[in-house]
Amino acid sequence: MKILSIETSCDETAISILDFRENAGKIETKILSNVLRSQIEIHKEFGGVFPNLAKREHAKNLPIIFLENLKKSGLYEEQKNILDEETKDKLRKALEHEKGLDEEIIKIFESIKKPGIENIVVTSGPGLEPALWVGINFAKALNIIWGIKVIPANHMEGHILSVFLDSSNTETQAIDLNKINFPALALLISGGHTELVTISEKLEYKKIGKTLDDAIGEAFDKVARLLGLPYPGGPEISRLAKISRDDPSPRSESRASIKLPRPMINSGDYNFSFSGIKTAVLYLIKKIENLDEQTKKDIAKEFEEAVTEVIVSKTKKALEEFNIKTLIIGGGVSANSFIKKSFEELIAEKNKEVELFFPDSHMSGDNSVMIGLVGILKIIKNTETVPITEIKADSNLSL
Ligand code: KG4
Ligand code: ZN
Repeated sequence: MKILSIETSCDETAISILDFRENAGKIETKILSNVLRSQIEIHKEFGGVFPNLAKREHAKNLPIIFLENLKKSGLYEEQKNILDEETKDKLRKALEHEKGLDEEIIKIFESIKKPGIENIVVTSGPGLEPALWVGINFAKALNIIWGIKVIPANHMEGHILSVFLDSSNTETQAIDLNKINFPALALLISGGHTELVTISEKLEYKKIGKTLDDAIGEAFDKVARLLGLPYPGGPEISRLAKISRDDPSPRSESRASIKLPRPMINSGDYNFSFSGIKTAVLYLIKKIENLDEQTKKDIAKEFEEAVTEVIVSKTKKALEEFNIKTLIIGGGVSANSFIKKSFEELIAEKNKEVELFFPDSHMSGDNSVMIGLVGILKIIKNTETVPITEIKADSNLSL
C-alpha cells in the first residue's frame, strides 16, 4: 500500500511516498521518494523560527516537492485533467487561508493523473499552528481532487518511531514489532519538547514527565545566541564543547569557575526545566569581562554537560522504576554526539539489559518519513479514522 506523508510543523517542509506491507508481524517498508526543504537559512537571519514566514515558505515549497516526489517515486503520469468549477470552488474554499496555493495546485493538477496512493498522512500537531495548517490544507486539497483518505499524525510519535527507519536506505526495510521488548521508554528531546514517555506492548503512550518551561533544544538555541553563535544553536554548541573537552591543557582558575546548575536533577519526578540554566549562562557572561573564544568553548562544554547530566539522570530513574526493556531517544537534540555517548555509557555500565535506539543521522531532525510510519502503524492497527472536516492543527497536541 502506498502512502504519502507530509510534515510542516516547524521549519522543514517535507514529503515522502512510502510503500509498505505487513507480513507476519513485520512491516516491510520501502521509501519510494523523500524530499525535504529546510528553511534554516531563511530563519537564521532572525535567530529563530518565525511562524508566518515558515507558513509562507511551506506554501511555496509544498507543490514543488510534491511533484518531485511523484517523479522520483515513478508515480508521475501526465494526463489532461480539467477540474470542474465545483472542484475548483471547493479547493479555493479549503485553501482560503493559504494565499496563492489554490491557483498553484489547480495549475499542477490539471496535468497529472491520479497516482496509486491510498492514504495521505499529515502532521496535525504539535508545532507552529500556521505552519501545521498549510500541510493539513494541502492534504485536504489532495483529498478534494482525488478522494484520497487523510490521516492526522502526532509529530512526537513520529520522533519515537524515527528510530525504526533509515531515510537514506532505498531498499525494503523490515520493522519487526515482535522484536521490540516492552515496556519501552522514549526520551524526546527537540526544539519544542523534552518528554519522557512510557510505551506499552499495545503501543500505548503515557507521558511521565515534561519540561515545565523551555525545551532542551530551545535552551541550546538560546545559549548559542548568548554566545553569539548562529541558529540553530545545538550543532554549534556541540562543536565548541568538543574542542574544549578535547583540550588537554590544565584548567586555569577562570575555566574551572565556569559552573552551571543541573536544574531539577533531584526533584524526584520526571519533569525538566531549562530556562534557569539559560539565565545562569547570561549571568556568567555578564560576570566574565572578556568573553573570548576559549571561554565560549568552556561555557558550551559546561552547558552541554549540565543538560546531559539532567536528562541521563531522569532517564536512568525511569528505566529502573518502570522496569524498561527498550530505550528510544528521538528528536533533533538526539543528534548530539556527547548526549549519545553518555546514554551508551549509561546502558553499558548500569542497564545492560536495556536495548538502546537512536535515530539514524538523517532521521533525528524533522522529516516526513517518520510521519509516514505513524500513518502506517495507524493503518495496521486499524485506528478509527477522523472525519476530514475534523482534522485541525493543534499546536499543543499531546501524546
Ligand atoms: O526535532 P527538531 O528538528 O525540531 C523540533 O521538532 O523542534 O529539533 C530541533 C532542535 C534545535 O533546537 C536544534 O538546536 C537541536 O534540535 N539540535 C541539536 C543538535 N542538532 C540539532 N542540539 C544539540 N546538539 C546537536 N548536535
Ligand atoms: Zn521535531
